[in-house]
Amino acid sequence: MDYVNGPGRNHLFVPGPVNIPDQVIRAMSRNNEDYRSPAIPALTKELLEDVKKIFKTTTGTPFLFPTTGTGAWESALTNTLSPGDRIVSFVIGQFSLLWIDQQQRLKYNVDVVESEWGRGADLDVLESKLASDSAHTIKAICIVHNETATGVTNNLAKVRQLLDAYSHPALLLVDGVSSICALDFRMDEWGVDVAITGSQKALSLPTGIGFVVASPKAIEASKTAKSLRVFFDWSDYLKFYKLGTYWPYTPSIQLLYGLRAALDLIFEEGLENIFARHNRLGTATRLAVEAWGLKNCTQKEEWFSDTVTAVLVPPNIDGAEIVRRAWKRYNLSLGLGLNKVAGKVFRIGHLGNMNELQLLGCLAGVEMILKDVGYPVKLGSGVAAASAYLQNNIPLIPSRI
Ligand SMILES: Cc1ncc(COP(=O)(O)O)c(C=O)c1O
Repeated sequence: MDYVNGPGRNHLFVPGPVNIPDQVIRAMSRNNEDYRSPAIPALTKELLEDVKKIFKTTTGTPFLFPTTGTGAWESALTNTLSPGDRIVSFVIGQFSLLWIDQQQRLKYNVDVVESEWGRGADLDVLESKLASDSAHTIKAICIVHNETATGVTNNLAKVRQLLDAYSHPALLLVDGVSSICALDFRMDEWGVDVAITGSQKALSLPTGIGFVVASPKAIEASKTAKSLRVFFDWSDYLKFYKLGTYWPYTPSIQLLYGLRAALDLIFEEGLENIFARHNRLGTATRLAVEAWGLKNCTQKEEWFSDTVTAVLVPPNIDGAEIVRRAWKRYNLSLGLGLNKVAGKVFRIGHLGNMNELQLLGCLAGVEMILKDVGYPVKLGSGVAAASAYLQNNIPLIPSRI
């Protein structure tokens, strides 16, 4: 039995996994093949070069692990650090919390910097830690670029600025799972040492590729890092890169062809146009939230996320009930509030393969659901605010000009 069937399409507005373009689905509908033939290495070689472009790096080395974001986290940590190493890590929501849990279970010595959920990483605390660490005991800074649980985007340029201001050599490890390929991400410019993302987010593929891109400094660190690693060991990959066969174990053939198609679409639209589209989607959503008289969980504009908006609901309303109704009555999938903000927010994911009119459908659905659960919203108010903005700002589709 297929539990998702309903008339029309499911309106998928969770902040990952996201909608997959038809071209990508078609590209993956193919037989298995021998990955030791010349075809897969040729395909992989080009994919690795193209992946660098979406991370904005020319010097980084990409690894495409058959895994999820969680595996990519583990790969970033275990290849660059040794047990007991001191790292600074920020908890601002559920995903940064889960990464810290992983860091602690891998036996690193984690300096946890906490912020209220809805606020960004506390960079003043980072500054004071860097200022008092002339002995360079801090080996890495771990930061989530975009906290998917609260819709908060951290300022990575500022983190780099602080590291440089104190001439601190700590590695900068960044979770770009819900940012890369939707929000501007500049690996080289920001001196990011390891950046990761997952295929099911802005790249709009199925889950299953964990992207890990390592700077030359990170590759150097991997030569002496003592953390135990096997499946995620970069050195196995590097050996096969040198041989020109690329894969130390079986890759997902179909996902590689899907990635080829996804990257082709990304380059056709243009990275900067993609960032602008996400900015429009984020802005339109925020305008709708304001028109409904509700508050964004994100407390300040400087942290507003263009990939996900967590909407605070009044205390007498259960955010989880909104998500349940959305799915049961309107074939709309919204994101639940997680952990500390469970029941207090619902999330609208607006990333990946999505356009403005799709978003308006979601916003119309949210209005009806809000009314269903007893919130006195004026139907059409959010849609009107969002569409008034969009009507003035949507450009022509790049490929149709
Ligand atoms: C920011 C962030 N990091 C990490 C993860 C974990 O990724 P995965 O579920 O692919 O393991 C997620 C998942 O949503 C995420 O949003």
